[in-house]
Amino acid sequence: MIRTLLLLVVVAANLAANTALAAYTPGVAYMLHCGGCHLIDGRSNPPEVPDLRGELGRIVAVPGGRDYLARVPGASQAPVSDQELAEILNWVLHRFNEKTLPVDFTPLTGEEVGKSRRNVLKDPLKHRATLWERYEAAQE
Ligand code: HEC
Repeated sequence: MIRTLLLLVVVAANLAANTALAAYTPGVAYMLHCGGCHLIDGRSNPPEVPDLRGELGRIVAVPGGRDYLARVPGASQAPVSDQELAEILNWVLHRFNEKTLPVDFTPLTGEEVGKSRRNVLKDPLKHRATLWERYEAAQE
């Protein structure tokens, strides 16, 4: 009896783990943790919640830009692991910013994102303006 019960518990645990693995993709994680504010297609609610479509490819091209993505409070404080956050951000970059993403873009890593997100930005909009100035300066 105990054996059968144990077996059932093991089978159930395996099933649960497999189901979770099959369903969990960066896109799903985005919907769960970011979509409430940024909406399913990334359009968000500007100007309070910035649009995630198009400009992030330009931002990652400037020094400090990769770092910035994981430092905004919504990303930094999401209840996901460093690796998951890296995957969500890479997904956002490819899904919504493919056209502006630098051709030599290398995906964010969990380790890199882990370091960045510990420095959560107190004034994200001001920081963003600085990155934008760097971008404009690089175009001249
Ligand atoms: C509670 C609402 C909310 C949630 C949830 C949220 N964000 Fe945000 N996000 C914002 C706001 C507001 C800003 C503007 C900066 C600020 O004031 O924090 C922002 C800014 C950003 C930016 C910078 C965009 C730019 O153009 O400068 C990125 C990237 C971003 N969020 C990614 C994410 C990701 C990825 C998630 C999910 C892991 C997420 N956010 C979850 C509200 C949210």
